[in-house]
Amino acid sequence: MGLSFNGSSGVWLVSLVVSSLVIATCANFYQDFDLTWGDRRAKIFNGGQLLSLSLDKTSGSGFQSKKEYLFGRIDMQLKLVAGNSAGTVTAYYLSSQGPTHDEIDFEFLGNLTGDPYILHTNVFTQGKGDREQQFYLWFDPTRNFHTYSIIWNPQQIIFLVDNTPIRVFKNGESIGVPFPKNQPMRIYSSLWNADDWATRGGLVKTDWTKAPFTAYYRNFKAQTCIGSCTSSTPKSSGGTWQNQELDAYSRRRLRWVQKNFMIYNYCTDYKRFSQGVPLECRRSRFL
Ligand SMILES: *[C@@H]1O[C@H](CO)[C@@H](O)[C@H](O)[C@H]1NC(C)=O
Repeated sequence: MGLSFNGSSGVWLVSLVVSSLVIATCANFYQDFDLTWGDRRAKIFNGGQLLSLSLDKTSGSGFQSKKEYLFGRIDMQLKLVAGNSAGTVTAYYLSSQGPTHDEIDFEFLGNLTGDPYILHTNVFTQGKGDREQQFYLWFDPTRNFHTYSIIWNPQQIIFLVDNTPIRVFKNGESIGVPFPKNQPMRIYSSLWNADDWATRGGLVKTDWTKAPFTAYYRNFKAQTCIGSCTSSTPKSSGGTWQNQELDAYSRRRLRWVQKNFMIYNYCTDYKRFSQGVPLECRRSRFL
């Protein structure tokens, strides 16, 4: 806590320093999440350190955070369904509620043994999505846990995989593109069957003889704010999520991912957007 004198109004203002504005919570799944779907197919174990979702022919399963977040850095480690996971989708996302909801999505589309997963991403603002980008990963996401993160601040949303940025969605309000900044979001995850579209566009079906399919979660971490985190955060404190911008190294990493692993980008889908690609795609500083 620091005190500062505001000369014009002649009052002492109490200003909180950055560190006291930020709360970081460390993983205890019992404390932070509710199992919401799929009965015993969703499980928390190891004293709250590990969570698993599974899918069988009858049902998938899911969980959601107890808390809502308005800006923050959210990290989670996932180990995806191994072996033949074709037809399965593991969704992990932030979302608010209602018809004009905002949403920030990671979706992992399974595949046949040895064939690559697709990491599908999307951003919804004011109920409107249609901003898909898809990637292959540069590792096998079923062998080990990997960290999937969202940095969400008033300037931008950054998607990261093992701390490498894969996608940035900038605040484009100045050009008329809505940005998520008023509606708090919860964290959701679910594992479900989507063999009508997920793998090679629905060509490869789920092999139920391999069920149950299971994905694992650990090391959840949320850094977020009490009250507003937009003000009183000095720019010089760089490296914290509140004002995080990509440095030169991270920009190079982002370009490396986009060049080598991106397999779909709505911004270059001129067929789909024959009337013109969305506004944010037309200004390079918003990409
Ligand atoms: C599955 O593997 C095929 C063949 O390598 C590939 O074309 C496809 O993009 C992969 N991923 C999904 C989810 O279909």
